[in-house]
Amino acid sequence: MKLTYYGHSCIGVNTAGHDVLFDPFISGNPLAGDIDVARIPATEILISHGHGDHVADAESIAKRTNATLVSNYEIASWFEAKGVKPCIGMNIGGSVNVGPFRVKYVNAVHSSQLPDGTYGGNPGGFVVNGPDGSFHHAGDTALTLDMQLLRPFNLRFACLPIGDHYTMGVSDAIEAAKLMGVTKVVGIHYNTFPPIVIDTEAAKRDFAKESITLLLPGIGETIEI
Ligand code: NI
Ligand code: MN
Repeated sequence: MKLTYYGHSCIGVNTAGHDVLFDPFISGNPLAGDIDVARIPATEILISHGHGDHVADAESIAKRTNATLVSNYEIASWFEAKGVKPCIGMNIGGSVNVGPFRVKYVNAVHSSQLPDGTYGGNPGGFVVNGPDGSFHHAGDTALTLDMQLLRPFNLRFACLPIGDHYTMGVSDAIEAAKLMGVTKVVGIHYNTFPPIVIDTEAAKRDFAKESITLLLPGIGETIEI
């Protein structure tokens, strides 16, 4: 698998000939000025919850690429009304087949409201299970014991928020990784705004002490994972 970091919580995963894109928020990200939204590939767009810093560029990318947009029912309906298709609206605990993947929408402890004030359903994260194994994008969440339910997926890696303030911080993300049984974490939702600026070198050291690798690719960087 190849993983590209587009800043904040926006991750692209290239696997099985598909480009799975999570939580596109680029044009409003002060750190992502070098990313050209019009060139980001996507065959599936997975939206964890309705906040602007997770949905901002989804409509334009979906309309350009005709990617399948997957989110909870309320968010999928909101995008459908804007002319985005196809959209798949699901809810916590459900799984759907999308391309070569089985996608499960799992619990997140957070809130969810769309940028225009529309109710955004319950926030979630995703487990994507495909030909190259499974991986997780947690969206925005607090640490929750529900994370231990992800163990049977044998996750190759998990994308976990580490910026604190609005989500888990580093120490809770380390506990989350342990609950999930992952040894490779891609940090998301940090440094974008002043309240979530962290000491990234200290974060890497803290993860390493627990024998977990914290990967922090640069914005626009692609890594093999
Ligand atoms: Ni949020
Ligand atoms: Mn957020």
